[in-house]
Amino acid sequence: MAKIPIQFTVNGEPREMMVEPAWTLLRTLRDELLLTGTKEGCSNGNCGACTVLVEGRSVNSCLVLAPEADGLEVTTVEGIARNGKLSHVQEAFVQEGGLQCGFCTPGFIISATALLRRNPNPTEEEIRLNLAGNLCRCTGYDKIIKAVMRASAAMASGGAPAT
Ligand code: FES
Ligand code: FES
Repeated sequence: MAKIPIQFTVNGEPREMMVEPAWTLLRTLRDELLLTGTKEGCSNGNCGACTVLVEGRSVNSCLVLAPEADGLEVTTVEGIARNGKLSHVQEAFVQEGGLQCGFCTPGFIISATALLRRNPNPTEEEIRLNLAGNLCRCTGYDKIIKAVMRASAAMASGGAPAT
């Protein structure tokens, strides 16, 4: 299939590339840009492993076509840490043991980051509701929820954003 040009920003870097119209954003990030932190689980919008930020909103990148990202700003888990320093959310996942095999973790980090940017002080119920689109087969979720609450508390005491 003929490729078409797109221009977008990925983790703060402007990118210009040729994509097939049917490529997903997930495929483009992983297979073309080699940003393999974003995971492919179900490929149909049910697991959240492929979650990235598009214009600051968390989306399932398996459901977005690459041409739809033209002109937009995309952030993957590789773009969450700053200058080698983990974000509050990443740090809290480590501290609370909010991961085991880690396959779901990039998606959770992205979804939690989007939530805390929108609502820096969510209730446990709000966290569970907002992370309902991310599935984890290992942790039982409780440690993930505690990690997000810990990140929220750290942000409140440090006055820092969720990134
Ligand atoms: Fe996209 Fe599962 S791989 S939601
Ligand atoms: Fe293994 Fe979540 S830590 S799927």
